[in-house]
Amino acid sequence: MKGVILAAGRGTRLYPLTKIVNKQLLQIYDKPMIYYPLSILMSAKIKEVLIITNPQDLAQFENLLGNGKNLGMNIEFRVQDKPRGIAEAFRIGESFIGKSNVCLILGDNIFHGQGFGEILLKAANLKKGGIIFTYPVLNPKEFGVVKFDKNFKVLSIEEKPKKPKSNYAITGLYFYDNKVLNYFKKIKPSKRNEYEITSINECYLKNRELSVYPLGRGMSWFDCGSQVSLIEASQYVYTLEKRQGLKISCIEEIAWRNKWINDKKMLSHIKKNKSSDYGKYLTKILNK
Ligand code: DAU
Repeated sequence: MKGVILAAGRGTRLYPLTKIVNKQLLQIYDKPMIYYPLSILMSAKIKEVLIITNPQDLAQFENLLGNGKNLGMNIEFRVQDKPRGIAEAFRIGESFIGKSNVCLILGDNIFHGQGFGEILLKAANLKKGGIIFTYPVLNPKEFGVVKFDKNFKVLSIEEKPKKPKSNYAITGLYFYDNKVLNYFKKIKPSKRNEYEITSINECYLKNRELSVYPLGRGMSWFDCGSQVSLIEASQYVYTLEKRQGLKISCIEEIAWRNKWINDKKMLSHIKKNKSSDYGKYLTKILNK
């Protein structure tokens, strides 16, 4: 399984914050936003990751994450020159994905909750079809919406419907088999001229190969597309980290716990962050 993080888009809903800084590089409490989706892929034990961003933001992402070797991973980068839709990730990422299955995560999506690691590992083991994750929300009109029956059979999926059939939002985390590359070739841009991820999910649904995994009350999910959600996500991370003394989505810690990097490599991360609390935290983890 390979991973793709979509971190392009103009972020106009966050202007002027995102006029010169890519949304996915904005602060969520103590780390850049992209650390959170990256940590989800790492928790699913996905070592090969493609980051798709805007041409003007590429250098910053490369500076931040490099080629992934420091995390025991392989990170590659490609650009999307215009926001032609989320599903375009499968055209831009085609050669990177090759014959593999793929997990796509949106760069502004944050997931956290006990047991989520195991759920991710199971999903990453996917042999056939597609998996989407849903989350109950009060404002379903703002998301992709899925309706399913009591046996979790998907009945419908719609992108930002005016009259939502359920209050279950489709989150920005998708696991697909390799057929996704062909499905992309079959879909057409929507009325708003985007290749919708919902069109890809509809292809899987038509083939009766779309599974839905409902995330319950014990999970947190943030789509950091607005000023308010940036604050809410930061506040959430701050509150839990302060209470427990454990960090959420600390990519160096996950790499080390996955045994993708050894103590020596961890020490080099500590050195680079030695003036910050982040570096102190890595020291604490290493010495425990
Ligand atoms: O967050 C979950 C929702 O994400 C889903 O419920 C919707 O079905 C899905 O369409 C998407 O809706 P959004 O309105 O949140 O999508 P947005 O345009 O904000 O894009 C989400 C992320 O994807 C954002 O971080 C930028 C990136 N993106 C988006 C587009 C359209 C790209 O990199 N390129 C693009 O062309």
